[in-house]
Amino acid sequence: MRIDKIAARTILDTRGRPTIETTLNARDLEAIASVPSGKSTGEREAVELDAVSAIENVTGEIAAVLGGRDFSSLDELDVLLIALDGTRDKSRLGANAILSVSIAAQRLFALQENIPLWKAVANRAETTPSAPRLFVNVMNGGVHAGFKLPFQEYMLVVDDRTSVALAIAQKAFIKLGEILGQDTPMGDEGGYAPTFDTLERPFEILAELVEEFPDTSTAIDAAASQLFHDGAYKILNKSYSSEELTRVYENLIAHFPIHSIEDPFNENARDDFVRITATLGEKKLIIGDDLTCSNPKLISDAIKNKAVNAVIIKPNQIGTVSEAIESVKIAQSAGLKVIASHRSGETDDTFISDLAYGVGAYGIKAGGLGQKERLEKYSRLLAIEREAETV
Ligand code: PGA
Ligand code: ZN
Repeated sequence: MRIDKIAARTILDTRGRPTIETTLNARDLEAIASVPSGKSTGEREAVELDAVSAIENVTGEIAAVLGGRDFSSLDELDVLLIALDGTRDKSRLGANAILSVSIAAQRLFALQENIPLWKAVANRAETTPSAPRLFVNVMNGGVHAGFKLPFQEYMLVVDDRTSVALAIAQKAFIKLGEILGQDTPMGDEGGYAPTFDTLERPFEILAELVEEFPDTSTAIDAAASQLFHDGAYKILNKSYSSEELTRVYENLIAHFPIHSIEDPFNENARDDFVRITATLGEKKLIIGDDLTCSNPKLISDAIKNKAVNAVIIKPNQIGTVSEAIESVKIAQSAGLKVIASHRSGETDDTFISDLAYGVGAYGIKAGGLGQKERLEKYSRLLAIEREAETV
């Protein structure tokens, strides 16, 4: 495939911040991709540049090297982008610049082969496609909602075929809105952002939903790096050691239908991850996000240490589609569950839906049902469900 034209521009994400959108043309084919942005980012994520610099790098240096050149695979193109950047963390050209080109190129390859994007992903990853469980963000806290709730994300996990799961999630979301009241604000990820004065209250409400709606459970992203200050975890004006925080999780799990905990400790507390996975990992998912940063090496380390039994995969944490797929492969072949994820500052790009379905991910985190950019991802999953019946 020969890329004839490369263009990039500014669009605004869900927080109204500028981000990059890139268009690639190859003959009569055109593909567009845009890149989201995190707020509770892991220290070891690939580096995002400001949108203006990222756009300059795509239309300048990257266009000069890719333009008019023939590529036989996306791997070849991604390898070239990684080498051109030349840094370990993609800080020179920007992970956002590089990823926008990588995703658009993956779309071009799928168009060229005349197959759906998820099928192209599955072919490259050599995975069996299947519908991911929906981890629907229903209540926001932490940095996504001014710490009105201590944990960053409270999710309803729905395990069914996408169209059925979404219908359940939508009814549950409306029901939650009724419980919380119509004046409840929304958080960054399109879920409700209520205020409660006890740690348990959100879990009591979620338990009501689980009771009422079939095939559901609950999950949290504690995003504990954001709670960690001066050697302790600060939750609702109280300070917890890692041992005390472990007791908090054990207590919550004993009383409420909790399916998984993402980032239960701060990103440098590997031994605490190892301990909680040893004690709770048989029955629950202990998910790495800031700990593993979608990075093949960090995921390999976490596997070796048995630090988690599941990982979040966010393409912009690592910066190319090829490396995101490599991370998925490493995790899946060690028996870890993979959950593809959006970011808190999103665009209407739906690549993560095709990624999740194509690699047969265990789950997808695409946010609440109160923001268009999140709904686009769910709608894409619905479209994939229909496509899969005809391919
Ligand atoms: P972020 O949060 O996109 O703001 O980093 C998402 C998460 O922690 O899972
Ligand atoms: Zn997270």
